[in-house]
This record gives sequence, C-alpha cells and structure tokens, in this order.
Amino acid sequence: MTLRNTSFLDACRGRRPERTPVWLMRQAGRYLPEYRAVRSKVSFLELCRTPAMAAEVTLQPIRRYGFDAAILFSDILVVFDAMGVAVDFNPGPVLPKAVRTRSDIEGLRWGDPVEELAYVMDAVRACKRALDDRVPLIGFCGAPFTTCSYLIEGGGSRDFLEVKQLMFSEPALFRGLMANMSELLANYLIGQIDAGVDAVQIFDSWAGAVGPRDYVEHVLPHTRALVERVQAHVPEGRERVPVILFARGNANILKHSATVPADVIGVDWSIELGDAIDVVGSDRVVQGNLDPGVLLGPPALIQQRVRETVAAGARAKAHVFNLGHGISRTTDPEHAKLMVETVHQTRIEG
Ligand code: CP3
Repeated sequence: MTLRNTSFLDACRGRRPERTPVWLMRQAGRYLPEYRAVRSKVSFLELCRTPAMAAEVTLQPIRRYGFDAAILFSDILVVFDAMGVAVDFNPGPVLPKAVRTRSDIEGLRWGDPVEELAYVMDAVRACKRALDDRVPLIGFCGAPFTTCSYLIEGGGSRDFLEVKQLMFSEPALFRGLMANMSELLANYLIGQIDAGVDAVQIFDSWAGAVGPRDYVEHVLPHTRALVERVQAHVPEGRERVPVILFARGNANILKHSATVPADVIGVDWSIELGDAIDVVGSDRVVQGNLDPGVLLGPPALIQQRVRETVAAGARAKAHVFNLGHGISRTTDPEHAKLMVETVHQTRIEG
C-alpha cells in the first residue's frame, strides 16, 4: 500500500525530491510500437472502454522508460457517455450532433459519471493493481471550457466561432452550460479519486482560444469552481490528492490561470519556464515545459534543452518535468528514453 517512488507526489506537494520527477502528456500513444500493436486490433474507444486493455497500455511507457508517474489511458471526451452525447474518433474527435441551440442545451442529460463511466472507475482499479505501487497514477478530465468547446463545435476547431457565438450572444445560457459541466467534471474526478488515483490533471487545451479578458470573465470561474470542489474532497483513509491545472495557449493567460489555487501549474511551451515562474511566483510548483518538437531533433540538442529546462525549474518551489504539450506520434522512442535519462541525471546545484 505504500508507493515505492514518491518523487512525483512529493514535488506536487511542494517538497523538492532528490531527482526531478518526469512523466509525459500522451506518454501512452502512437509513438510506441507496443501501443500500435494493441490499437491494430481494437478501436480507440473500445480500448478506452475495456479496463484490462486500458490498464495494459497505461503500463507500457512505465515498463519501457521508468517514468515517475503513470497517467490513466482514456480520453477527456469519454465523459460525454454520461450525457448521452455521441462522439467518434477518426483519429480526431467528431460529434455526429453538435450542441449549439437553447433546446440542444436544455435537452442534455447530466448523468452520474461514477455510474455511467463505471468502465473508467474499473480501469483506475485495474491500473492500480497492475502498477502494484511502483509509481502513482494520475487521473484526469478536460476543463469545462475545453470540454464544452468540443460539445459546441462538434469536434476540433481553428477559430471557435460557434463557441464565441454562444458565449457572446447568449452569455447566461453559456454560463449555465459551463456551470453544469464544471459540476459533472468535479463528480467525475472525485469518482476517479475514490477509485484510487493519486493525483488529477485538468486539461484546458483550448484556453488560449479566447483573449485574456474573456478568459477571466467566461472561462476561469468555472475552472476555479472545479479545482476547489475537487480539493475539498478528502478520500477515506488517504491524504487529499494534488490537482494539476494545465491551461494551454496564450502565455498571457498564465497570470490569470495561476490565481486558481491548483497544487501544480502546468506550463505550455509558448513561454520560457523561467519566465513562467516569474509570472506564477517561486512559491508555486510548476510542471513542464519542453517543446515536444525538440524530441524530433538530434540527441545532443535534446540533452541540452532538457538540462536547461531542469535548471530553469530549480527556481520554483518544486518542478515536475513534462513536455509543454503531448508527445507527438512521430517521436523516436529512443529520444524519449534519452530525455527521461537526462532528466534523472541532471542534478540541481545548491
Ligand atoms: O496522456 C496519456 O497518455 C493518457 C491518454 C490521453 C489521451 N487523450 C489518449 C488519446 C489523454 C490524457 C488525452 C487527453 C485529451 N484528449 C486532450 C487534452 C490534451 C491535449 O492533447 O491537448 C484532448 C484535447 C483530447 C481530445 C482528443 N483525443 C483529440 C484531439 C484526439 C486526436 C488527436 C490525435 O493526436 O490524433 C484524441 C484521440 C486520442 N486520445 C489518441 C490518444 C492516444 C489517439 C487515438 C488513436 O489511438 O487513434
């Protein structure tokens, strides 16, 4: 019952471990041949909905690299299963029916995610069993804005015009949708925590789609409510689990997102890590932020940039090494290995 590697959780709780912990967003995925082998037999959604297979791919990068944390294999959009909203992946998400009008929104079902996403809760338990206390398990969800943006746009988007149309012309309707989503997502994360995850990350991948002013007015209150509700939950017989907030996009929103008392602030690659620490304060724990594209470069460049990032992180209260967004599918698996080894070998002076 006691974790053998606590470096990630120590850092999340503001205690600087001897070695900088490292995990990657999308660490289980198509850059790994063993993932592609599993995926050649089942669809992406079937993989998400089959706990034993989800646990198998969750563990693939742990076995191969010795990351300091595992992240549950799933997707931020499976939460639509609790709302009666259909989604397909090919490989990007597509909703056969987008949710845009008042009657679309009023027709949404707000089910209990613990019951309706029982396969996610089962996958958490299967991962915990398979991990056998080697490293902690991270659960996750999308932030209210990112999740609602897929709902409203009906998939990915370049300009988010449908979202903005609703947000600016029907602000009360938009606010109600975001508030309901925030509550559903809080219950979803609390379910994952009770099923056994050791930390949670909230992905606001599209936070940068709106300007800083509108981020503060229309997006941030719902992210804050989500973080605070999850932080108020203490699982039976365990410590409160750390919450990581990763808002991607315009570096100008960082000063606003950092006003949310998340335990860890995720930093994307649009800003130097040292500059990000100046913005959020050296009393905060940061996670990030190497450009995933650097892993496409030669080994010497990867080593140099990893060392620079670890050195920059030394000024934060603690630092969890990660990329500034998900690892790309064309990454050479040997380059990811070199990155992990270099993080672990780079010692901070003083
Ligand atoms: O990090 C992990 O290893 C855990 C698994 C995970 C996936 N998606 C698996 C996945 C996590 C944490 C996510 C989060 C997610 N999903 C986000 C937030 C992070 C981000 O990238 O900004 C978003 C926006 C989504 C929505 C989504 N799912 C998109 C846009 C796509 C297509 C992207 C692509 O690279 O083609 C997916 C599909 C998806 N989710 C894949 C994986 C491994 C590829 C599916 C496949 O195997 O075909």
